Amino acid sequence: MFNKSFLKKNLTPFLEIYKNRPIKNNQSGMKIDHCFALFCFLNKIKPDYIIESGVWKGQTTWLIKRVLKKSKIFSIDIDLSNREVIYDDVKYLNKDISKYNWKKLNKNKTVIIFDDHVCFSKRLDFIKKNKFKHIIFDDNLPNHHISYYTPKMIYERQYLIKKEFIKYSNIYRLIKFVIRYFKNEFKGNIKLNFNYKFIKITYPENISEELNKKFLSIRKKIKIYYEFPPLKKFNYRNRFKKILKNFYEEIPKTYKVQKPIFNKNEIKFSRDLEQELNVQYSNICYINLN
Ligand SMILES: C[S@@+](CC[C@H](N)C(=O)[O-])C[C@H]1O[C@@H](n2cnc3c(N)ncnc32)[C@H](O)[C@@H]1O
Repeated sequence: MFNKSFLKKNLTPFLEIYKNRPIKNNQSGMKIDHCFALFCFLNKIKPDYIIESGVWKGQTTWLIKRVLKKSKIFSIDIDLSNREVIYDDVKYLNKDISKYNWKKLNKNKTVIIFDDHVCFSKRLDFIKKNKFKHIIFDDNLPNHHISYYTPKMIYERQYLIKKEFIKYSNIYRLIKFVIRYFKNEFKGNIKLNFNYKFIKITYPENISEELNKKFLSIRKKIKIYYEFPPLKKFNYRNRFKKILKNFYEEIPKTYKVQKPIFNKNEIKFSRDLEQELNVQYSNICYINLN
């Protein structure tokens, strides 16, 4: 979709915009790697309509507005109370995207940005029914690194293996899990590992015939699946430091990531931007459907 020299050239205009970002510490939201991806995707597709699912403080709404001055933006969040940036001309909605009627939008000119932590398998019927064609998906992590299906997993034919860690100090989550366990909700299909600080629960692959068919159907419709590369070399230890430190997980032998846009010494960012690099990178992708 993009070659490296195009991406390198586009970094300067992006940084000109990004230096004025309203939220300097967008904890839980997009940071430099994914904001740059969004900047490039939107500039390339130039949609007339954008549906953003997952607003949080409003950093991405701000970026969309800076890139596409004339497009109509629908910004959805089931909890709009965290917004720090609010625009009069953005249509804010507080129910799930599937609860609204999108018939009137021209789907060739509409992009959906999913950054709402909802399982992608739950979006497939909605996308198909409404004939959406341009999808950007933010938290596009591989198996073992997230608790729900992502486009990456579906595209790479992986079946979700969910891991959960519950610290003994988190009494509420622990009790909830124990009740579910004794109600036999997992039908014995889970693996438990006990550590002196936490329990690790592994939920096995368990995929219905119906879901399998949906995955097949979406894979057939994919014209482009493109993972945006990280700005600098991906650093697993830095990206997943919490899980490595708190739950003693090991670095996997293989973890596929796109080659970085810049080599190590090719570019030096300011200190605040260097700190943002990598910490949130999750293979943000663009999908173009038939
Ligand atoms: C990662 S944040 C979004 C970050 C934002 N795009 C940014 O980068 O600044 C995820 C947001 O999704 C919202 N959310 C959760 N479920 C949702 C749903 N079904 N539809 C829309 N938003 C949802 C949460 O309330 C949260 O504010």
